[in-house]
Amino acid sequence: MSSFLRTAVAVLAAVAPLASAQTLVVDNSTVISATDETVAPAAATVPETSTDASVPYFAAETVQLTDDVLANLTALDLSNISLFNFPESDATASKRGVASGCKTFPGDRLWPIPLVWTVFDLLLGGALEAVTPIAAPCYNDHPKVRNAAKCSFITNNWTNDSYMHADDPSSIMWPLYQGRTCMPTSDPSDSCTLGGFPSYVVKATNVAQIQLAVNFARNANIRLVVKNTGHDFNGKSAGAGALSIWTHNLKDIKYVPNYKQGSYKGPAVKAGSGVQAFELYDFANKNGITVVGGEGKTVGVTGGYLLGGGHSPLSSLYGMAADQVLSMEVVTPDGRFVTASDTANTDLFWALRGGGGSTFGVITSVTFKTYPKMQAAVATFSFSTGANVTEDTFWAGVRAYFDYFVSYTDKGAYEYFQIIQLGPGAYLFNMAPFFAPNMTTAQLQTLITPWLNTLSGLGIQVTPTYFGYNNFYDAWNNHFPLETVGSTNIKTASRLFPKSNWADQATLNATFAAIKSVVLEGSTVLAFNIAAAKNGGSNNAVNPAWRNTCLHAIQGVFWDAAADVPTIVAASKKMTFDWMQRWRDVSPGAGAYMSEADILEPDFQQAFYGSNYDRLYSLKQKFDPTGLFYAPTGVGSEDWTISGQVDGLPTQNGKLCRA
Ligand SMILES: Cc1cc2nc3c(=O)[nH]c(=O)nc-3n(C[C@H](O)[C@H](O)[C@H](O)COP(=O)(O)OP(=O)(O)OC[C@H]3O[C@@H](n4cnc5c(N)ncnc54)[C@H](O)[C@@H]3O)c2cc1C
Ligand SMILES: *[C@@H]1O[C@H](CO)[C@@H](O)[C@H](O)[C@H]1NC(C)=O
Ligand SMILES: *[C@@H]1O[C@H](CO)[C@@H](O)[C@H](O)[C@H]1NC(C)=O
Ligand SMILES: *[C@@H]1O[C@H](CO)[C@@H](O)[C@H](O)[C@H]1NC(C)=O
Ligand SMILES: *[C@@H]1O[C@H](CO)[C@@H](O)[C@H](O)[C@H]1NC(C)=O
Ligand SMILES: *[C@@H]1O[C@H](CO)[C@@H](O)[C@H](O)[C@H]1NC(C)=O
Ligand SMILES: *[C@@H]1O[C@H](CO)[C@@H](O)[C@H](O)[C@H]1NC(C)=O
Ligand SMILES: *[C@@H]1O[C@H](CO)[C@@H](O)[C@H](O)[C@H]1NC(C)=O
Ligand SMILES: *[C@@H]1O[C@H](CO)[C@@H](O)[C@H](O)[C@H]1NC(C)=O
Repeated sequence: MSSFLRTAVAVLAAVAPLASAQTLVVDNSTVISATDETVAPAAATVPETSTDASVPYFAAETVQLTDDVLANLTALDLSNISLFNFPESDATASKRGVASGCKTFPGDRLWPIPLVWTVFDLLLGGALEAVTPIAAPCYNDHPKVRNAAKCSFITNNWTNDSYMHADDPSSIMWPLYQGRTCMPTSDPSDSCTLGGFPSYVVKATNVAQIQLAVNFARNANIRLVVKNTGHDFNGKSAGAGALSIWTHNLKDIKYVPNYKQGSYKGPAVKAGSGVQAFELYDFANKNGITVVGGEGKTVGVTGGYLLGGGHSPLSSLYGMAADQVLSMEVVTPDGRFVTASDTANTDLFWALRGGGGSTFGVITSVTFKTYPKMQAAVATFSFSTGANVTEDTFWAGVRAYFDYFVSYTDKGAYEYFQIIQLGPGAYLFNMAPFFAPNMTTAQLQTLITPWLNTLSGLGIQVTPTYFGYNNFYDAWNNHFPLETVGSTNIKTASRLFPKSNWADQATLNATFAAIKSVVLEGSTVLAFNIAAAKNGGSNNAVNPAWRNTCLHAIQGVFWDAAADVPTIVAASKKMTFDWMQRWRDVSPGAGAYMSEADILEPDFQQAFYGSNYDRLYSLKQKFDPTGLFYAPTGVGSEDWTISGQVDGLPTQNGKLCRA
């Protein structure tokens, strides 16, 4: 151990116990003068093969916080490192968390003093950063980062560059839930505050840092957040007064042609939790294989996407992303690093695959099945009301499409379509795209011709453009554009409509009428004709509603960009309790996809988790008894509240307290 770490630990000893830290006067000049020395992070390098892991650890996973590392720190005698201990070795520290009704918040007496954060940073090897909101360069009250050119870059790219948000340690793509306290602005005299952004972020590049962060947050009773890309629609990757773990840099990917695990023998890919769809698909393509991921280019595949279930352009053929998983490496709430698979930590394995992000631990990598290279066909087209197409004709054309939902998905197809009100009495249907994996354009044409003939019979002339590809990557890359993010004038909700609604015409008509009715009132519907194919591997926590659906439909409500809070709340409530209720009424007992759903969904436990909820809740108590991991609408989130909230517009900007 270097003298630097020795100094760090000695300084920590001087400020402990934490409870009286704020009253101590500390001379930290030794820390400052020591910055020239080599930093010795609290970590050990373990062999890349372990008993449970059926693929070798990534280099980032061999760097771990072990009992030996902690023993060495403790052995210094002058140290008090209880803040970084695993729970069984320090019951008192853990109790500090449970005793309090709220997570310790900046400004609270127990909030660690700057020196403790400095020591934490030393143990992390310099990976800690105090959070500066992404748009701070636009504000005079952030003189250190104020930069007009940067501000204009951020402002210009705010809604069209999800890479920019993903590459920032704390930015999230739906600022409504952050509290909109530091939006890009042309008025530098406005104020920019942290709002729902965390206080500190660990820019993790190895497992030891994640373990230290988990132990520190648990022992110091600080709110813990995990941010990967920040795509989450409900603010699940932010939190005021939190320590955040940023997994974005865990970018390793490895192809394992002959993987064996439990009953599976075959090709697999192991991907770090920072890997994004565009990277994973590119990697798969270069290796001549196909993998199941989402349509969104910048989504973090083995992060929140897969943990929430994860739907894919390949789901109608191969099932959910969570169904492909063979094993996972995870830091659990007790700070330990474990493998979860069919043969190790099987309860955890079940819960992680569909039980939601930021609930049972921090994933560092996932190994999943791959498939052979495949061809794909794509068609794009649209139609709208107009000279020869009345409103009634338009809706008859859309209704005719609904007749094919079950048969299209049975053939493995996936369609992403939008129904948009363009103005009074004017509507657009946009097929963007009809995606047919494993099909030729001729097969796709045959598949959709009956519907196109019906359209033609109605007087709706549609001329699809067909595209054929010999691989998934090009089909995906060319037909799923980088999507808009960062908006603050839209909120969404969704429903997984069961296939049984297609069993008879009366029920299907009622389903269609419920969907049409919200578009007539100004909503936009973005929907997927998709099914979760049965493909083994489905004994997991994915919402059972996915197993029966052929339609994942999202509706949006909009308001004016300058709308005040009461206007936003009214729009939000209209959607949740009126428009969405029409969808619930025609699909009783069904559910919604947690990662593209309404944060205010009533009875979210039933809607997002279905019959899995009770088991998930009890596993949550078992693996995370102190409630270290919290995410809005996550398993067990009903046990917590965030203070200072406007009813109807929840944000992560407030103190997290036991309900
Ligand atoms: C433009 C866009 C396109 C999308 N396309 C699709 C799609 O095609 N299919 C689909 O199913 N969904 C899609 N989604 C939804 C997406 O799956 C969710 O937003 C998902 O939560 C994103 O996960 P992330 O890790 O990228 O994002 P984040 O917002 O960073 O994380 C989401 C949640 O997971 C947690 N989390 C992240 N990483 C980890 C980790 N390593 N360990 C533990 N918890 C973690 C976070 O704490 C948070 O609770 C899309 C969303 C957007 C905005
Ligand atoms: C470490 O801190 C705990 C409480 O936080 C205290 O009880 C203990 O005496 C301290 N140990 C040392 C060696 O300072
Ligand atoms: C500790 O160091 C920081 C700089 O890292 C300084 O701002 C602070 O005043 C110092 N505190 C004490 C008590 O010396
Ligand atoms: C613990 O300290 C001893 C003595 O300095 C050293 O040899 C050993 O490598 C250390 N172990 C770890 C895990 O850091
Ligand atoms: C995003 O907007 C910026 C500035 O308006 C522009 O330069 C850039 O080309 C846009 N990118 C995309 C993908 O539309
Ligand atoms: C962001 O804006 C810059 C110009 O300001 C542009 O060069 C860049 O391509 C934009 N990013 C995206 C993804 O469009
Ligand atoms: C409407 O139909 C007429 C007659 O078939 C045709 O000439 C005209 O081009 C059509 N208009 C549009 C907008 O499709
Ligand atoms: C893909 O198509 C071929 C024949 O065209 C078929 O044999 C194969 O089973 C299909 N693959 C899947 C996963 O359906
Ligand atoms: C369902 O709707 C179609 C088209 O609108 C209509 O022709 C049919 O009679 C309806 N069927 C029932 C059972 O309501």
